[in-house]
Amino acid sequence: MTKTKIAPSLLAADFGNLQRDVEMVNKSEADWHHIDVMDGVFVPNISYGMPVIKAIQKYATKPLDVHLMIVDPNRYIETFAALGAKILTVHYEACTHLHRTLQTIKANGMKTGVALNPHTNIKLLEDIINDIDIVLIMSVNPGFGGQSFIENTYNKIKALKELITRKGAKTEIEIDGGVTSANAKKLVEAGADVLVAGSFVFKSDNPTQTILDLIKATDI
Ligand code: DX5
Ligand code: ZN
Repeated sequence: MTKTKIAPSLLAADFGNLQRDVEMVNKSEADWHHIDVMDGVFVPNISYGMPVIKAIQKYATKPLDVHLMIVDPNRYIETFAALGAKILTVHYEACTHLHRTLQTIKANGMKTGVALNPHTNIKLLEDIINDIDIVLIMSVNPGFGGQSFIENTYNKIKALKELITRKGAKTEIEIDGGVTSANAKKLVEAGADVLVAGSFVFKSDNPTQTILDLIKATDI
């Protein structure tokens, strides 16, 4: 059984102590730093942009998993490559020419990620699944941390897993939103490979221990 990857979302970090929180993730058993970029247009919230990611990159020792919740992400692919992104995830709903966008991400040396909003059916990825390294299933509506998990996510994971197997793809499944140690096991059983957790990790009394708790919960 391959270990489920854990990607703490820095959106829930204490921005006044960003270096401390990035270093906590470095020293923890987590796998990636999840970085949420919101533009106030694609989603009704603005998070942070390039200067903050530059500061994160300075201290981060694990792969930067960048989740773009912005319109027309094509404009910034080279910029995020230069900022050290290892995985660049764009939203299906934000890309008119998704296939071209994925080729550009690849050409810039990053892994390709496609995120789906809760209303977007996984079947829409049928023709491009072999070009996608990671599908990020939103288990809340994107834009904010701390929302409650949408139960239909389990069905989406199972359907996506079936599609990946049928197409002989190597795509990983990442789940983002409302993840806790209470739903982690069921998510992994459904087929999840990577779990993003924001509030559950950073709003806990002992984030390092909470990451371990998540890993323990996913050990199926
Ligand atoms: C939401 C972001 C998530 C968010 C998750 O739009 O994509 O990554 O930070 O936060 P929690 O784990 O608190 O739901
Ligand atoms: Zn995210």
